[in-house]
Parts: sequence; structure tokens; C-alpha cells
Amino acid sequence: MTFFWSSWITLISFGCWAFILGVLLFVLKYKPEVEEDGTTGHEYDGIREYDKPLPKWWLVIFFGSIVWGVVYWVFFPAMLPGNWNGLATVKVDGEDVPWTSKNELFSELESNNKVFTDNFEKNILVKADAAGATATLATLNELQATMRRSDNPPADLQAQIDEKVTELAPYVEKLSENPNALKVGSRLFLQNCAVCHGSNAKGAPGYPNLTDNDWLYGGKAGNILTTLHNGRVGGMAAWRDQLGEDGIRAVAEYVLSLSGNQNDYDLDQTKVAQGKVIFHEPTNCVLCHGPDGKGMISAGAPNLTDNIWLYGGDRETIRETLRYGRAGVMPQWETKLGNERIMLLAAYVYSLSDKTGKAPETAMANTAATQPVATKEATAN
Ligand code: HEC
Ligand code: HEC
Repeated sequence: MTFFWSSWITLISFGCWAFILGVLLFVLKYKPEVEEDGTTGHEYDGIREYDKPLPKWWLVIFFGSIVWGVVYWVFFPAMLPGNWNGLATVKVDGEDVPWTSKNELFSELESNNKVFTDNFEKNILVKADAAGATATLATLNELQATMRRSDNPPADLQAQIDEKVTELAPYVEKLSENPNALKVGSRLFLQNCAVCHGSNAKGAPGYPNLTDNDWLYGGKAGNILTTLHNGRVGGMAAWRDQLGEDGIRAVAEYVLSLSGNQNDYDLDQTKVAQGKVIFHEPTNCVLCHGPDGKGMISAGAPNLTDNIWLYGGDRETIRETLRYGRAGVMPQWETKLGNERIMLLAAYVYSLSDKTGKAPETAMANTAATQPVATKEATAN
């Protein structure tokens, strides 16, 4: 609590107590004169006032509230701004910590989560013949707790975590065949992912379709797990300054030709040829989209030769992409959802995806897509 609010509450509470005590003392001292018939002589609209003691129940509530107020002050952190944490504690991460509304929330989330994970292990993992995941999950949880607690984590800790995450892949494949797991997974998807990927997971401009076999970062269970745990940032630099509008138009024309000109444009072949040269300069497009334009999972660079577009395959949209660049952001879910829910989501996405086709074999699950991208962006801008 801030100094202001703490002082504010302290002031109001002590003010109220002083006022109530004052009233109490005044009433104790005040002895009205009583007439022979037992009334005080006050009369309102024909109703005469007796001098009777206050009812017991009322007094009990009155003093009870004062005692309750004092106890509350001792237990909770309101008094003496910043100096009194209160006696009340809650359990977070297995430790007793002073009560704060934030710690209470963490504690409740933790115990809810415990119910969920126990249930997950007993009713889902075991039944899907994936109980082997339990040990990996336990190690993973420990590594993540170490990461959370340390201000200066060991250099290879993240790599160890990433490795454990990909070890869960075979179990995710098993879960993807278990109807119960998929039911929970689909519900989690609707709650967390549908806003961007659509309730049918077919995506929207800028948000990839998860039901096809065209993947920015790979469609194997391990790739999907890594995507969900760490998040992804697409890095397509802006080329306007480097190529100029003429260069942009030329290379856009070449990109249109790569995907077989599905929109039946009247392509300017001179520009296509110019664009091809620009595309193939070693530090340009080939760096990420590859010499054949089929994309590269390690860079999150899409295949430009199919007719599946993340942002759009019409001439103007492609020029727009090239002029200003693109940087789609897939959030990380590790801290928000935890390992168990991510497994269920990965299983659900894996079950939706089309695995019959040409899903790339050379998936590089642990490569952060931002790395090759950041260096290129620096040179391109
Ligand atoms: C805020 C919007 C947003 C939300 C919410 C979101 N995503 Fe994404 N997701 C994206 C974007 C944008 C990309 C593409 C990133 C890029 O352009 O590089 C993406 C990429 C992905 C990919 C990789 C696709 C590929 O082709 O490799 C997967 C898998 C994925 N999301 C699954 C999920 C799941 C499961 C959830 C729910 C837990 C989720 N996403 C929630 C925006 C979102
Ligand atoms: C540093 C790596 C990198 C380089 C170099 C690069 N791209 Fe990209 N490109 C990407 C990434 C990553 C995306 C996806 C962006 C996202 O997910 O938001 C992308 C997206 C695109 C798209 C959008 C595709 C769609 O499905 O909507 C086009 C078109 C494209 N790039 C063309 C090019 C051309 C032409 C060049 C050369 C002038 C080029 N790129 C250079 C990484 C790169």
C-alpha cells in the first residue's frame, strides 16, 4: 500500500475510534432527570421517552466491533505506513509470507492450480498412457522455480528449461489422441487463443492458421510446445529505405511470380527479373526466405511459394509488407498458463493441424526466432 493510502486509513480509523469513545464517555456521564412515571419528559408526536439501559445485544455488537477493529489492525498491514506487515500470513510457493492482497491472490491461484494439476496427472496423463511425463514435469517445474527466484540465473538455465519442454513432445502426441485431453484443450483454446487465431483456429490476417500444414516455426509437437512456452516474434524488416519504391515494386513482382501468380495479375516481367536479382543478393531475402523462397523455420520466415499468406498475397499487401516490415507477436504462455495447460493446448493444436502434408522435417525447435532477425533488422534500417 502507498504511504498516502496507509496514512489515510490510519487517520480515518483512529478518528472514528476517538469519536466513538468520546460519544461513549459522554453518554456514561450524562444522567437525564427522570420524572415520577419513569420518562425523561421528552415527547415526540405523543411518544414519550423512557430512560432505559441499552439492550444487551446492541452493546455486545458495539463492543464486539471495536475489538474486531483492533484485531484487524494487528493482523493486517494498515497501521504505521510501511512498518507493520500484520500477523496474518498466506502460503506462496510453500513459504509463509505476510498477507497482502497480491499474495492472497497468488496463494489462491496456487491452490486452484494444485487441484488442476493433480486432476491432470490422475485423470488425463495416466489415462492417455502418458504418465511418463510426470517426472519431466516435476523437473521442469523445479527449473522454472529456480529461474523465478534468482535475479541472476545461470547462463544455461533457459537452455535446460527449453530442453525439458521438448522432452514433453511424445506425451503431447499421446494426449492429442485422447478425447478427454482434447476437450479440455479446446476449452483452453477458446479462452486464451481464439481472440487472435479464431474459434476455429483458422487465423486471420497477421494471425496464422493453425489447422494447415504451413508453419512459421514448425508443426511438430516439440515446435508447438516451444512456441507456446516462449512466445515468438516475427521479424521482417522494413525495406523502404534500402530498396526504394522502385526496388520494392520489383521485388514484390518477383514474390508474386514465386507463388505462381494466383491472382492472375499482368506481371511486369522486367520487374520480375530485377526483383529476382535483389531477392538473391546474399544479405537480402534469401537470408531468411531461402534461395527457393520456401521459408525457414529457424527464422520464422514464411514460405513465399505457396498460396498461404500471413498478411495477404495481393500486390498492394505484399508491397506494404516490404515497405514497412512486419513483426507479428505470439505471446509467451509459460507464466500465465503453466506447463500442464500448455501441454493440453499443444495437444489440441497438434490434433487440429494437417500432418499429412509437407510439414518441414528440419524443425529447429529451440532456436529463438528473434536472433537472426535482430541483426538483419539493424543492417536493413
Ligand atoms: C495476441 C494474439 C495471440 C494470441 C492470444 C495467441 N496467439 Fe498464437 N500467434 C499469434 C501471432 C501473431 C503469431 C504469429 C507470430 C509471427 O508472426 O511470427 C502466432 C503464432 C502461433 C503459433 C505458431 C504458428 C506457426 O505457423 O508456426 C502457434 C502454434 C500458436 N500461435 C498457438 C497459439 C495458442 C495455442 C494460443 C493460446 C494459448 C495462442 N497462439 C494465442 C498471436 C496470438
Ligand atoms: C531477417 C529475415 C528476413 C529477411 C531478410 C526477409 N524476410 Fe520476409 N519475412 C520474414 C519473417 C520472419 C516474416 C514473417 C513476419 C511475421 O511473422 O510477422 C516475413 C514475411 C514476409 C512476407 C509476408 C508473407 C505473408 O505470408 O504474408 C513477404 C511477402 C516477405 N517476407 C518477403 C520478403 C522479401 C521480398 C524480402 C527481401 C526484400 C524479405 N522478405 C526479407 C523474415 C525475413
